[in-house]
Amino acid sequence: MASPSPLLQPPPSSPDPSQHCTIKLPLSFPKKPQTPLFLFVLFLAISSAAAFVFLLSSSSSSASSISPEIHVGSPRARALAKLRRPVVLVVSCDGFRFGYQFKTPTPNIHRLVANGTEAETGLIPVFPSLTFPNHYAIATGLYPASHGIINNYFVDPVSGERFTPSNHDPKWWLGEPLWETVADHGLNAATYFWPGSEVVKGNWTCPPRFCPKYNASVPFEQRVDTVLSYFDLPQNEIPVFINLYFEDPDKQGHQVGPDDPKITKAVVRVDEMIGRLIQGLEERGIFEDVTFILLGDHGMVGTCDKKTIFLDDLAPWIRIPESWVTYYYPVLSILPPTSVSYSEMVAKMNAGLASGKVENGDYLRMYLKEDLPGRLHYSDSSRIPPIVGLVDEGFSVEQARTNNKECAGAHGYDNALFSMRTIFVAHGPQFQRGRKIPSFVNIEIYNLITSILKLKGAPNNGSASFPNSVLLPSA
Ligand SMILES: *[C@@H]1O[C@H](CO)[C@@H](O)[C@H](O)[C@H]1NC(C)=O
Ligand SMILES: *[C@@H]1O[C@H](CO)[C@@H](O)[C@H](O)[C@H]1NC(C)=O
Ligand SMILES: *[C@@H]1O[C@H](CO)[C@@H](O)[C@H](O)[C@H]1NC(C)=O
Ligand SMILES: *[C@@H]1O[C@H](CO)[C@@H](O)[C@H](O)[C@H]1NC(C)=O
Ligand SMILES: [Zn+2]
Repeated sequence: MASPSPLLQPPPSSPDPSQHCTIKLPLSFPKKPQTPLFLFVLFLAISSAAAFVFLLSSSSSSASSISPEIHVGSPRARALAKLRRPVVLVVSCDGFRFGYQFKTPTPNIHRLVANGTEAETGLIPVFPSLTFPNHYAIATGLYPASHGIINNYFVDPVSGERFTPSNHDPKWWLGEPLWETVADHGLNAATYFWPGSEVVKGNWTCPPRFCPKYNASVPFEQRVDTVLSYFDLPQNEIPVFINLYFEDPDKQGHQVGPDDPKITKAVVRVDEMIGRLIQGLEERGIFEDVTFILLGDHGMVGTCDKKTIFLDDLAPWIRIPESWVTYYYPVLSILPPTSVSYSEMVAKMNAGLASGKVENGDYLRMYLKEDLPGRLHYSDSSRIPPIVGLVDEGFSVEQARTNNKECAGAHGYDNALFSMRTIFVAHGPQFQRGRKIPSFVNIEIYNLITSILKLKGAPNNGSASFPNSVLLPSA
């Protein structure tokens, strides 16, 4: 359980590498610059791109905030040409660390960025920066403490029941996800493998034609083509909210860490899928009508066997039986029997970790959940275990010394870490072209989408003012 896969089913075998290099790239990026001339050209390209971005953002910064001073000629939401009502398509690339889009030319992502609105320094995940807590925070606008999915795997301290990602019992999944909000307004929604989407809630029944059951083996092309086929339905049946999930590049990131040619290939492949979607929408004449949001759930950081903390090393201070540990890293979760004094346990563990005698002890700090930093919003739920350890960036926690493992990748760490950020790009009638916005936490997305769809949403942790600060005013 040290490094759980994002979804329970084993991922498909790695795609054939020969598939990755077919796209024609506008620039060639040799792995190592061949000549000083290349460096100089690269420098020119980067500096002119930066100047361009600066011009775009400085000319647009005042126009998009709601203020009485909006002058004539300010951009306004563009009218729909073909669709009868707004449609929002959200594509999630699991573990797409912010910055991956610069590893290699990504012409399709670039099209969304160039003509859309982008979180300039990435989208901030909720804590813990894990797949299920974050996908469900995006869907509900709630912090994990409120939406109930406080980890990918956890034990409910009250009932003793275990949650795993394949559990679709509605009692675990609190809050109101977007697909339910849409269904409760009598409209169609469609989900393609989004965590939580198979849970029956309110008027959302996970209808077979719009809610396939999770199967990691379904090729990405098939997922894209199915989503595109929804746009061929009669207008009043087209789902107004559609989401689509890709396991990549998280799958590769766990295997090899964020800096490896495998990641670059996975990014190229994901970009090709974005291109397939854009092309399919263009063929139908609706690319400019559809709101296309590309995002991820969290980033990725390299881990190494030399960066491990072993709980058994704390034995001189306190013995921690394996059965008390519900999750090792990056969020060490301990649920001892109630006969144990939690505060004494935290104190003893921290004494050992700070003693200088425990390998890498400085990189783990234990807390009673109520003493965790408030910015993590990780205490106000009975499901959160009483004792939580924050593990420093790139470190891991294991019970005992075993044969060393290879270096790999992980996420789940403090959401303030830059390496945990992911991308956010939105393209569509209500998003200004070429605009950059500051980073924000993904709980804001629920209100953004209900605003675009003009639906009344459920109470959540997003701020009411966020949509107005980002969306173009109505025409
Ligand atoms: C941006 O949109 C304009 C207007 O539709 C179009 O001419 C241009 O090609 C688009 N840019 C990119 C990079 O797709
Ligand atoms: C289900 O949808 C119907 C029709 O739109 C609506 O009247 C009803 O309130 C919805 N149920 C819930 C639980 O929202
Ligand atoms: C999962 O998808 C693959 C590829 O489409 C298919 O061959 C397989 O039958 C599916 N498995 C299940 C359980 O539906
Ligand atoms: C998040 O929203 C829920 C639902 O409105 C609310 O109960 C909870 O207190 C909020 N949490 C925070 C930290 O604001
Ligand atoms: Zn993930």
